[in-house]
Amino acid sequence: MTSFSFVHVTDHHLGESETALTRGFAPAYAFRTVLRHIAATVADQADFIVSTGDLVEPASDAAYETARAMLNINSADGRAPGPLYVTVEGLHRYPMYFLPGNHDDRASFIRYLFPRTAPLDLVNATFVHKGVQFICLDWGTEAKAVANPAMLDYLARVLRGRSPSIILMHHQPVPVGSRWLDEFIADDVARFWDVVRGQDVLGIFCGHAHTTHETLVDGIPVFGLRSTIYQFARCDEPMLCLEPPHYRLVTVKDGEVHTQIFEVPL
Ligand SMILES: [Fe+2]
Repeated sequence: MTSFSFVHVTDHHLGESETALTRGFAPAYAFRTVLRHIAATVADQADFIVSTGDLVEPASDAAYETARAMLNINSADGRAPGPLYVTVEGLHRYPMYFLPGNHDDRASFIRYLFPRTAPLDLVNATFVHKGVQFICLDWGTEAKAVANPAMLDYLARVLRGRSPSIILMHHQPVPVGSRWLDEFIADDVARFWDVVRGQDVLGIFCGHAHTTHETLVDGIPVFGLRSTIYQFARCDEPMLCLEPPHYRLVTVKDGEVHTQIFEVPL
């Protein structure tokens, strides 16, 4: 297996214009700042960027149009989950994969980003990069994840077909130490772990909780990440906090993943 690196970003919550504010935060300004940092710091070491969802909020046509224009996406480029090629803030036609989050409307997400892909209720998909299978799983459009049987069947099937694998998803499958965020874990998450356990899974990367965390489950590392906009405090009731965004540089080497967090001052 050839070693390579990629960048993980998540939860952008872009509004209906670049000047739109969300809960007092400026999502487009913050996402641009993160992308500029990536371009200046790690883009030449990485092969692609992956976003694990919540591209927009609210999921209106105007918001998706704003996202597509901001990233200069030519939507004729690819099929879900990508790569699409983004040109923004020092990145020039840089490959980027997109998963939907719970705030993304699946029909609009597909229509604006991947018009050559048939409408999907759930975006479960794979791509292969340098011998590693990336499995993108969709836990649905509710804040609380649902381990849909179709998703689990898909996961079991693709894990049988090729290895090693990296799993990408929006919702977190592990507790992060906050009562209200941990209630968003699927009630039947054990069924997911039953499918994954014992397979050649190098790591799982997720968003949704707007906080950076790392956990080891049955020897499989699970990595969560701060959003590119507001963060959630790790307390038992919902609370936002003014922590700067993170992105993660992930290096796959010798059958293991090694990661490095970058903090972006706004
Ligand atoms: Fe989010």
